[in-house]
Formats: sequence, C-alpha cells, structure tokens
Amino acid sequence: QAVSLGRLQFSADVSEGVVASDVIFITVGTPSDHNGAADMSAVKAVAVTLAQSMDRYKVVVDKSTMPVGSSKLVAKIIQENQPSPLEYDVISNPEFLREGSAVEDFLNPDRIVIGTDSERAAGIMSELYSPIRAPLMITDPASAEMIKYASNCFLATKVSFINAMANICEAVDADVKEVALGMGYDRRIGFEFLRAGPGFGGSCFPKDSRAMLSIARGNGYDFQLLQGVLDVNQAQQDIIVDSINGLLNEKSRVGVLGLSFKPNTDDMRDSPAIKVIAGLQKKGHDIVAYDPVAVDNAKKYLQNITYAAGPYETAEGSDIIVLITEWEEFKYLDWRKMKDLLNKPIVFDTRNCLDPQTLRRIGFTYQGIGR
Ligand code: UGA
Repeated sequence: QAVSLGRLQFSADVSEGVVASDVIFITVGTPSDHNGAADMSAVKAVAVTLAQSMDRYKVVVDKSTMPVGSSKLVAKIIQENQPSPLEYDVISNPEFLREGSAVEDFLNPDRIVIGTDSERAAGIMSELYSPIRAPLMITDPASAEMIKYASNCFLATKVSFINAMANICEAVDADVKEVALGMGYDRRIGFEFLRAGPGFGGSCFPKDSRAMLSIARGNGYDFQLLQGVLDVNQAQQDIIVDSINGLLNEKSRVGVLGLSFKPNTDDMRDSPAIKVIAGLQKKGHDIVAYDPVAVDNAKKYLQNITYAAGPYETAEGSDIIVLITEWEEFKYLDWRKMKDLLNKPIVFDTRNCLDPQTLRRIGFTYQGIGR
C-alpha cells in the first residue's frame, strides 16, 4: 500500500536515494571481525558513497550497531569525500528490534534513543519519530552508542545468569522455571530474559558481547564479567551434549526438533543447534533434524544430517527427541503418537517448553534444563 501511495520507493542507485532524502539511515551489517571487534568496512564504504552524492544538508543516521566513536568516524569520512562542503549531521539512533517481531517492536518500542550534539538534527529526528508513542531520549553520540551495547550485553548476562542457575538447580533438585518466576516478581529483576535454555545465539548477543569486550580491552579495561557471560554460554551447549549422551548408552539416532537460534526466524547464525549437533556427531550419534523454516540455511552450517519432513518423521526410528528451538508447533504435538514412533521414549527439552508431568504420564523419560 505504501508503494502504491508513493510513500515507499526502492532503488539500487545510492545517489538517487540520497538526493531524494533529508534523513539517511545506515543499516548495513557490522559482523564480528577475526578479533571479535565490529567489522566496519560496509559502514565505511556506504559513508563514502553517500558523501559523494550529497546535494544539501542531510541527517545521516547510524542505525547499525557500531562501536563507540562511530558517528565521529562516519562524519569524518563524509567530510573527506564530499565533492563540495555541505552541512550535515551524523547521529546515532540504535535499533532495538528483535528478529521475528521487528515490525511490532518498531511500532511499539520501549524507547527511542537519539545521540547527537546538534539541535537541528535532534529536532528533525524528534519530528520523524513523533507518530510513535515511546519515550524519546536525546543524549550525546557516545552514550547512545554505549546504550545499544550495554542493553544487549545486559540481556545476554541475564540469560547466562539463569543458565548458570539452571545448572545448579539441577544438582540441588530445584526447578529453574520456579526460581525464575520467583525472581521475576521482584520488579527490580523482572520476568523477561530469564528462560534457561541452550544458550543465546543469533547475530546480536554473541557478536555484540564480543565487540563490547574488544571495546573494553581497547580502553584498558578487562571486562571479566562479560567474558564470564560468554564462557557460560559456550559451556551450556557442552553440558547439554554430555547430558544427552548420558541418556544414551550407545551410538544412537538423535531426532532434533528446531534448528534456528530462536523461533519465528530462519536465522542460523550462532544457533545453539550447530554446536549441540556437532557435539553429538562427535560422540558418534546420527542426527535427523526438522525445522519449519530454517532447513535451507541449516544446510550451510551442518553436515551429514538427515532432514525430516516434520516432527513425526523426525521421531520415527529415533532413540531420543532433542528439542532445541521452541517453535510453537512443537508444544502441541501428539506425544502419544511421538512415543509410538520413537525407538525409545526419551525427550530432552532444552527450552523447558514442554510439560514434564504430561510427558512422564505418557511414559516418556523427560529431561529439561535445570528442573
Ligand atoms: C536482540 C535484542 O533482544 C534486541 O533488542 C536487539 O535489537 C537485537 O538483539 C539486535 O541487536 O539487533 P534478537 O537477537 O533478535 O534480539 O533475539 P532475542 O529475542 O533477544 O534472543 C537472543 C537469544 O537469547 C536467542 O538465542 C534466545 O533463544 C535467547 N534467549 C532469550 C534465551 O535463551 N532466554 C531468554 O530468556 C531470552
């Protein structure tokens, strides 16, 4: 509809886009480089191209996650590459969208952060975002850039914290889901991001935690806490592999449900499934796997796997079911049918999303995380 109303246009020509716009968002990727720092090459390239096409004052928005100091860097590149000096402001406006719920998150953000020292740019950005009802925070560029990293690293810390707790809960016969619930009632803690599981994955938490560590190192600070968060995350998948292996006495056929790093996306980047499956293969187990949407991507990351057409086909002839991604459809499976299809009625629920009582009643050996 936006296209037919002339409010949204697409072009492969950068200068056409630049000339037509007052505000230009840089949204290119900033993946980890070989040292864990953010690779800024795409940002730099785009800054050069847009500088060359500038025809009047522009607000250039750093939307991608970029290290502290990036708005200065982009401003410098623009200055060096403009054909003639034109005014512009480079501002930081980090995005907080989650994959799988990006539109919803964009329209209903918890906050909008604008990092700029320019009143002119702050005014334009405030007007741009005025239809969206959310607290608008205007701050300096470095703080805005830090807010993005600090938020992702803090959320990653919550996940690693609850995963570490889960490992202790398991040893002392407590249930981490109950523990997280009891913690969450404390408003200072909250319920969110306390779901124990196979560790965080995706293109953001691992990459941004590594980048933050690199920023800290570069500034002479040894961020041990964040290193611990990454270490716990790494170890979680090894713990799961050992646990699954402990349930199987011999080389077995392992049925895996879910491959993407979380539901509602086909993204396999840093998915816990990769390490869990590799670990199980190393122990000699055969893998048959199903994911509703991620199989095409999974083929780029995983070798020697049989892909099944659905959950029941995954169960057929397998010695255990390992649920790695909590796709909604897995919660409503006919587990009696699953049991009939499996060689052995064992389920390892790495997301604690199934009901242990129901499964045990049916005759399953149920293993979750920290329960
Ligand atoms: C994350 C942030 O949540 C967004 O705010 C941010 O904008 C985005 O990174 C980004 O930097 O672009 P995303 O990576 O899409 O979003 O996914 P999340 O929903 O945050 O989940 C990240 C990982 O943590 C997933 O592997 C998920 O399974 C795991 N997780 C999350 C848990 O294991 N337990 C939880 O309680 C929550």
